[in-house]
Amino acid sequence: MTRADDKTRWDPAQYQRFERERSQPFHDLVARIPGGLVRRAADLGCGTGELTRSLLTRWPDAEIVGVDSSETMLERAGAHATLSAPPARLRFVHADLRNWEPPAPLDRIVSNAALQWVADHDALLARLLGFLAPGGALAVQMPHNDDSPTQEILRALWREARFASQLGDAPRDRRVAESSWYGERLLDLGCDVEVWETVYLHRMENAAAIVEWVKGTALRPVLSRLDTAAREAFLAAYRERVRDAYPNGPHGTWFPFRRLFFVATRRGK
Ligand SMILES: C[S@@+](CC[C@H](N)C(=O)[O-])C[C@H]1O[C@@H](n2cnc3c(N)ncnc32)[C@H](O)[C@@H]1O
Repeated sequence: MTRADDKTRWDPAQYQRFERERSQPFHDLVARIPGGLVRRAADLGCGTGELTRSLLTRWPDAEIVGVDSSETMLERAGAHATLSAPPARLRFVHADLRNWEPPAPLDRIVSNAALQWVADHDALLARLLGFLAPGGALAVQMPHNDDSPTQEILRALWREARFASQLGDAPRDRRVAESSWYGERLLDLGCDVEVWETVYLHRMENAAAIVEWVKGTALRPVLSRLDTAAREAFLAAYRERVRDAYPNGPHGTWFPFRRLFFVATRRGK
């Protein structure tokens, strides 16, 4: 993982352009996490850390660690750690969540909008649950919108010969399984589980704003692999198709966004 690789994927300023819309699912997730004394918690794929910081209030006795593999995202997170009152209860670690291990069992693990970037959820869930103390909880939110026009258009353009030659491999397989799969797997792993989905209907200014949203996430790794001319051609075609798929109305453009949530609590005291 180099800084250059990281820069091609995450741009905090672009990501935070839709901060209010992107943070609501985090708050909806955290609201459903069971109460109880929390001494140690982690936020995996914590990004710029504002949301991680809000956990200090939710769990006033906890030491909280935010983990992220992007240096550019973590550069902003560092400021939140400094701001937290002594004794410092909040810290950030630059690490890949696929390898990171906590030094001691955790009471809560939160991961908001990050695990969709990681493959093999079967193994991942077992690993993350293994970090929990008995009675601990794993709370996850992931976009579940692979069938949305924004994603389908991206995949269709990727396959066009003019872009495929630079993009190489086919678009990645879907990583987020059906909601019921998570329910079954987590029950098999000895948890009590709540699973739910929400479709957030974001009212955007226009279809161009939807493209700006996607530029903050799914489009970044695609655009960074194209040369300037191809990138502009890709974006122009993407904008046109998104405009057709999300018509403008009298109050702006509705952008439905489906998200999957679960809270899994390890049985036992
Ligand atoms: C969409 S952002 C979400 C950030 C934050 N959780 C939030 O809700 O604002 C996804 C984050 O996951 C991080 N991420 C993706 N894959 C990761 C991995 N394998 N290990 C650690 N972090 C990862 C990215 O660097 C990015 O900061």
